[in-house]
Order: sequence, then C-alpha cells, then structure tokens
Amino acid sequence: MRDVAAIAPGTVDDALAAASRVLRGVEDAAVEARALLVAVLDVRPSWIALHRGEQLAPGVTDRLLDAARRRARGAPLQYATGRAAFRHLVLSVDERVLIPRPETELLVDLALGGLPAGGVAVDVGTGSGCIALALASEGRFERVIATDVSSDALAVARSNAAALAATLACPLELREGSLLAPLRGTRARLVVSNPPYIAAGEAESLPRSVRDWEPALALYSGSTGMAHIQRLATDAAAVLEPGGRLALEVDARRASLAAELVASDGRYEGVEVRLDLTGRERFVLARRRAGVAGSDA
Ligand SMILES: C[S@@+](CC[C@H](N)C(=O)[O-])C[C@H]1O[C@@H](n2cnc3c(N)ncnc32)[C@H](O)[C@@H]1O
Repeated sequence: MRDVAAIAPGTVDDALAAASRVLRGVEDAAVEARALLVAVLDVRPSWIALHRGEQLAPGVTDRLLDAARRRARGAPLQYATGRAAFRHLVLSVDERVLIPRPETELLVDLALGGLPAGGVAVDVGTGSGCIALALASEGRFERVIATDVSSDALAVARSNAAALAATLACPLELREGSLLAPLRGTRARLVVSNPPYIAAGEAESLPRSVRDWEPALALYSGSTGMAHIQRLATDAAAVLEPGGRLALEVDARRASLAAELVASDGRYEGVEVRLDLTGRERFVLARRRAGVAGSDA
C-alpha cells in the first residue's frame, strides 16, 4: 500500500465530499466517491474508515476529481480510474481496450486445465494483454505470443507487459496483425481468444457503458457475430500442434453454433461447450486431432 496520508491540505473526508459533489446526479454518489478513492489509492475499502480525518498526499485529490469527472460523464469505473483487476494482476486500461471481464478469468483456467507444460501459447485479440499476461505469469509455456489488429490496444498491452515484466515466467511477444497471421509459421500448443462476438445489429441492446465507451473493434464481428470465431476455428487448426487446444470465449446465445462451427472443421476432436460461474454457455474448447494435415480444411 502506498503512503497516501501525508502533507497536502485536504483530508480524506474533504476529498470524498468534493468527489461526491462532482458525482451529484450519479446514483449513490457517496459510494461511488469511495470506490473511486479506493481505486485511485490502491487500498482496501476499510482503509477509508481508518483514515477519514487524515491529510491526503499531494495530487491525490486531483486524481480523484479527474476520475469523478470521467465517471460523471458515464465512464465505467475501470476507465475512470484507469485500472482493472484480472486474476492476480492489476492492469492499466483506457478506452483503447476492452475492460477485462471476470468470465475471461475462467477462460484462462479452462485454457490451462490439463494441458501439458511447454510449447507456445497464443492469445488472439489481446486487448489490454490480460489473458496473455496471465498465461505468461503461470510458468507453463516456453513462450506466449499475443496478437491484436489494433495498434492502440497493443500500446496498452505493451505498457502493461512492461509494468509486469518482473512477474513473467516466460517471454511474451506482442504482434500486430489480424488473428493468427502474425504467427508466421509458429506451431502452438494453445490458441486462446476472447474475440469480438457481437452482431452489428445487436449494438442497441448493449448497455450504454459498453456501447458508448468500449472500442467497437473489440465488440463487433460482422452481421452474425460469428465472423471472427469462424476464421479463428479454421486458422487455429493450421497452427495448433497435435493435441493442442483451442479455447474460445463466445456469446452465450451462440455457444452451440460456435461449437458446431469448430466441429465442422474436421481437424478437431473433443469439442465441448463449457459454462461460466452463472451457468451460461460461454466457452468452446477443442483439441487438435493428430494425423490430419494442417491446411486441409
Ligand atoms: C473482446 S476484445 C478482448 C480483449 C482481451 N483479450 C480481453 O479478453 O479483455 C477483442 C480484441 O480483439 C481485437 N481484434 C478485433 N479484430 C481482430 C482481428 N481481426 N485480429 C486480431 N485482433 C482483433 C480487438 O482489437 C480487441 O482488442
């Protein structure tokens, strides 16, 4: 925890009151103000109760008020504070990348489960780098490669990778390009992806915090929502080693369709739909069959 109680004028209570004024009109403004301060200071929620009358360090109130202004304009909490938790990692995020979701933490578990150690893991559409960084910190692979078509997203992933470099157990390479094209012939033990999977016509049904703030490139996948998954299923079969795993996060409404699509490629076996912690069909797993040529789909 940082040394936040220090010399500048303005106590914890003063800062919270100022932030609550900025957040006037937002539901539960006082609760929001406390959540923002907790995130800005990187402290436990109980810290506030223990330090209410203490002076805050210089700059903290300014950072809190900046975050409150962004929140008052409707920014999701993570964009307002610039930070998001993912598994054991804390990542920097902004509007260039999707905010990492709790179900994607489960995708990492499913991707790793029972997979022999070694080989190369590939995270397609890495965004903030959350999946790739979690994999690279596990010590299970010789190398992790993360791709994204967005140079803006890769800049965020690069900065997260630099900040977490000391915690990584293997090299992590960030490569710009579409889907698996940046692999240039590398064979992979794991291809994991949380690709865009919203159909263009579904935009209106998304929560405003998603539709108005998160990058369109991270959300939409053609008119059916299946364009990325379809391409990935085909391309991953060509790069996976025999026995290698494809692990995809998918839209709950189209999980069986995604599984059928993967199975119909003919180069996978053990294709299965897995549930998230709320019981929704959110993941498709498949194993690359041995003895089937890589490019014969
Ligand atoms: C749903 S977001 C997932 C981001 C991150 N992996 C996560 O789980 O939070 C999808 C990501 O795929 C990227 N993307 C979109 N089209 C792509 C493509 N054709 N090739 C590679 N990445 C792509 C987007 O820029 C975005 O970062």
